[in-house]
Amino acid sequence: MEKRQPCMQGFLLCLILSVLLQGSLSHARSDAYTINCSGFHLNGVDPAAFQPVFDRKAFRPVINSSIPTLVNISFTLSAILDVDAQIQLLTSFLWVNMVWDNPFIRWNPEECGGLKKISVAAKNLWLPDIFIIEFMDVDQTPPSLSAYVYSSGRIKYDKPMKVTSICNLDIFYFPFDQQNCTLTFSSFLYTVDNLLLGMEKEVWEITDNSRSVIRTQGEWELLGINKATPKLIVGSSLYDQIMFYVTIRRRPRLYIINLLVPSGFLIAIDALSFFLPAEGGNRAPFKMTLLLGYTVFLLMMNDLLPPSGTPLISVYFALCLSLMVVSLLESIFLTYLLNLVTTQPPPMPRWLHSLLLRYLRATDCYKKRPQKETKGSGPSLVHLPGLMEPVVMAAWVPGSSETSPNGDPGSKRLPLESSAVNLWRKFCHILDSLLFWLYLLFMSSSLITIIALWNS
Ligand SMILES: *[C@@H]1O[C@H](CO)[C@@H](O)[C@H](O)[C@H]1NC(C)=O
Ligand SMILES: *[C@@H]1O[C@H](CO)[C@@H](O)[C@H](O)[C@H]1NC(C)=O
Ligand SMILES: *[C@@H]1O[C@H](CO)[C@@H](O)[C@H](O)[C@H]1NC(C)=O
Ligand SMILES: *[C@@H]1O[C@H](CO)[C@@H](O)[C@H](O)[C@H]1NC(C)=O
Repeated sequence: MEKRQPCMQGFLLCLILSVLLQGSLSHARSDAYTINCSGFHLNGVDPAAFQPVFDRKAFRPVINSSIPTLVNISFTLSAILDVDAQIQLLTSFLWVNMVWDNPFIRWNPEECGGLKKISVAAKNLWLPDIFIIEFMDVDQTPPSLSAYVYSSGRIKYDKPMKVTSICNLDIFYFPFDQQNCTLTFSSFLYTVDNLLLGMEKEVWEITDNSRSVIRTQGEWELLGINKATPKLIVGSSLYDQIMFYVTIRRRPRLYIINLLVPSGFLIAIDALSFFLPAEGGNRAPFKMTLLLGYTVFLLMMNDLLPPSGTPLISVYFALCLSLMVVSLLESIFLTYLLNLVTTQPPPMPRWLHSLLLRYLRATDCYKKRPQKETKGSGPSLVHLPGLMEPVVMAAWVPGSSETSPNGDPGSKRLPLESSAVNLWRKFCHILDSLLFWLYLLFMSSSLITIIALWNS
């Protein structure tokens, strides 16, 4: 009897403990949605245990239907495949991740060797109908994907998606453009009463992941991703949505090398060809050849330009072309003028004459001054009267022309004429350089304007 007493006490303790345990276990078992996972770690997952869950897949998995399902989403932008400015489409590749809770799935990992997650074919589960509003293509998601189901009922579903989305593309700044495309994730059917969207990752995390995943060194570079979460109102229904603003920038190297540099060289050569002598008659053919070359260049490079819209670069090309045409016209005009004044010099208007003289005197003094300092006053004194002479003589041209028919020797008329021709020729050169400076001024100002626009 004395020996039994501790045993009885122990028995009572055991009984109480077992009753307590039993109670807690039965309480756990009373939860109708707990899956009996014993044997999963030995014999594999029992399909029968999951059958009740699979049977419910047609319905949104909630116990109280007035509680909305919270779906957290994120994505990784793994490639930017194409940006089509003509039909305003951005083609990209996304890995979309979705996470939500299914209250009908639950098991105790300790009952089955610490099994925490199981992969289940996604077609057996309820899936949220999240889509991208800008999506303009049929969904090419592979059909047989799986989802991870966690012991707490959390479901993680990832799917790859080739997204052809509509995007408002502005190619004005081509090739230095950057585009801001929107990807709006929203439910097709469920309003805010039934489905809410959340973020699975922060936006900076999405941006960093995408940057490290994008391996393509293609034309486009990911600059950043931002988000906004305005609700979408359609009629009387309110839909939850998350908008991601994907900012991408074009890598302009190809276009700089193939379009801007050759064009710049051609226009530089065109400007430099003003230094060819105007008299030789070489300048106009040279410019004509350049113009022809530029036209061929434009024809060949047309494929590189965006097929629609008027980017600034087209304006730039048109400007280069018109500058070339204008300089060619200038050369033709100058050749004509030089030809005219050497064969039959028209009388020079008085105002032009005095203006020209004043200018020549000014530039001559300006030019001679440095020489004066080195060589003394000799050469300038010699030269200045030489310049004065045509002035005086040209002023006498009308008088001399009257006297020449009277039988004056032609030997006196010849230097008079040649000096007039000389003066005209000087005028042509001055006009040439004046037009050249005007051309340079216009070219540089318009180029600077265009470059400033590109930089902005
Ligand atoms: C789980 O199922 C096994 C048989 O597969 C059964 O022996 C065990 O009692 C069940 N456990 C519970 C808690 O229902
Ligand atoms: C369902 O949820 C709503 C709101 O949370 C609550 O008012 C209602 O009592 C719940 N119904 C049941 C049966 O639990
Ligand atoms: C979704 O995210 C929110 C906030 O980050 C978090 O509280 C919630 O548990 C998440 N839900 C799911 C299903 O992941
Ligand atoms: C992209 O566009 C949206 C509106 O269309 C704007 O709110 C957002 O700030 C823009 N993002 C960038 C980086 O420009």
